[in-house]
Amino acid sequence: MKFAVLGTGSVGQTLARKLVDLGYAAIMGSRSADNEKAAAFVNEAGGLATTGTFAEAAAIADIVIVCTHGAATLDALALAGAENLAGKILIDVTNPLDFSNGFPPTLLPAYTQSSLAEAVQAAHPKARVVKTLNTVNAAIMVDPQRLSEPGDIFVSGNDADAKAQTIDLLKQFGWPDPVDLGDITTARGTEHYLPLWVRLMGPAGGANFNIKIVK
Ligand SMILES: NC(=O)c1ccc[n+]([C@@H]2O[C@H](COP(=O)([O-])OP(=O)(O)OC[C@H]3O[C@@H](n4cnc5c(N)ncnc54)[C@H](OP(=O)(O)O)[C@@H]3O)[C@@H](O)[C@H]2O)c1
Repeated sequence: MKFAVLGTGSVGQTLARKLVDLGYAAIMGSRSADNEKAAAFVNEAGGLATTGTFAEAAAIADIVIVCTHGAATLDALALAGAENLAGKILIDVTNPLDFSNGFPPTLLPAYTQSSLAEAVQAAHPKARVVKTLNTVNAAIMVDPQRLSEPGDIFVSGNDADAKAQTIDLLKQFGWPDPVDLGDITTARGTEHYLPLWVRLMGPAGGANFNIKIVK
């Protein structure tokens, strides 16, 4: 199984490293074929790690994970190429945050009434988009067991098989029981949680925390 990890930031580095540790091939994609961060990842992670442009990575992969700057996600996926995404599971971990006025960020105005995940699905109707992992920081995405308990992680998407395969991957990351919220419109809930998430960093004493449904 080959994964394209579209993004060279902390999320891309963390997810790609975890995939390699699990024994999967991980191709880190970026705008440039000679991206320094992607090259560093390949040097550090070894044989199962490679790098390429967004398009090269998406073309080779069985499953694509997009972890680009939120405001650039649609541009990055356009560069990846609709033909390279068609039919594939497209796991979207991005958040539509606007840092133009500093910290804390707000939601990008384009997504206050909907979600970036829906825009991704609309732009790539043949891709099978699953929104997940955007509600925790990168370290927790791949190692929820480092918390006192994992808490809950959520999936949203229109394709039942894509969600089932994503849930299987999440379990390999250490999430015991991912919560299926429903179709892709339910990503509004997890994306719109981010303004609270950034404010929980204070009382939580940092970014290593999660939330849990209790009844
Ligand atoms: N940081 C976390 O713990 C965390 C947790 C949950 C969700 N997220 C979300 O995950 C995503 C990634 O976050 P991050 O901090 O790892 O990285 P980031 O700095 O937000 O994004 C870096 C990536 O975005 C790409 N990019 C930037 N501008 C672009 C443009 N104009 N066109 C195409 N691509 C562009 C970069 O491409 P190049 O490689 O070519 O430079 C790079 O690969 C974000 O959407 C963030 O909200 C982050």
